[in-house]
Amino acid sequence: MSDNSENNMSDISDIMGEKQGSQQIWAIGGGKGGVGKSLVTSNLAICLSLLGMKVVIIDMDLGGANIHTCLGVPIPDKTLSDYFGKSSTKLSDLITPTPLNNLFLISGAQDELGIANLRNIQKNKLISQLRDLDADYILLDLGAGTTHNTLDFFLSADQGILVTLPEPTSIENTYRFIKSVFYRKLSQLDDFLELSPIIDKALNSKISENHSPAEIVAKAREINPMIADKLEREIAEFSPKLIINQARTQADIDIGFSMKIISKKYFGINLDYVGYLEYDATVWQSVKRKKPLILEFPSSALVKNFENIIHRVLNLTKK
Ligand SMILES: Nc1ncnc2c1ncn2[C@@H]1O[C@H](COP(=O)(O)OP(=O)(O)OP(=O)(O)O)[C@@H](O)[C@H]1O
Ligand SMILES: [Mg+2]
Repeated sequence: MSDNSENNMSDISDIMGEKQGSQQIWAIGGGKGGVGKSLVTSNLAICLSLLGMKVVIIDMDLGGANIHTCLGVPIPDKTLSDYFGKSSTKLSDLITPTPLNNLFLISGAQDELGIANLRNIQKNKLISQLRDLDADYILLDLGAGTTHNTLDFFLSADQGILVTLPEPTSIENTYRFIKSVFYRKLSQLDDFLELSPIIDKALNSKISENHSPAEIVAKAREINPMIADKLEREIAEFSPKLIINQARTQADIDIGFSMKIISKKYFGINLDYVGYLEYDATVWQSVKRKKPLILEFPSSALVKNFENIIHRVLNLTKK
């Protein structure tokens, strides 16, 4: 993470100006429940919409959908339940307005569907129709877990953003998510079919056994040097973003840097630490009031944290 403190919203507007016209999908995930994924999704979306971008949030937490509450809107009439239930329903039919002009919501399923139970055909339909939405930014709130469907939605995005708390269980889950999503990506590429046994072994290994992508590249080189080169390119291009949420101390903030180093060392993966969010009582106050944090407490420290993160991610996605 670079020093972003001098940046402000006008710098961000400059970047946005250059980015007009290129639609972006961001997926917000993380292995563990309750780490702040919905808080991050809703407030990043609000930041983008305040910058004049048309933003659609899709609540992919099927069964536990609650992002409408973070945005201060009642449960929308149409949800993803309708989309998955009726083949004639289009994704754009589900778009619900929010109190912000440029911000729209597609609400998650209100039944107990659960993302793990989504059939392949339903998942592929959704992924293939995402980019038809009339929006500059589409933000996916993925919910908890590392089921194949969640990993596939993460991989379908232009930017995958992971949220973690600065505590061991959450950090472990994040590493597990990174590893699972990376090997899921490889397992989907036909070119790497020959490597399936090695990839499966690596996926099921413990961190300490160190079956890193670098080791897989070495093994791949013995089988087929061209595939090894391609694999190296895939590894270099795979760069999930990381946010540390509920930071209380400098040590908490620094965990993001350590995770970046560990991710590189053990997995060979470039984890991009895009910023932290302080622990702040205004969060639960805004949750209680069912109002978006950024609008309810615009001068809170957290709003500055969100601006820094937006700036960092937009700078990175600048083409
Ligand atoms: N930075 C923060 N400061 C204070 N409280 C926070 C912060 N971030 C999150 N919380 C608290 O944690 C709760 C969980 O956040 P949130 O609902 O965004 O997590 P989640 O990852 O989306 O959870 P789930 O996996 O259940 O969907 C919030 O209701 C809020 O009270
Ligand atoms: Mg959530």
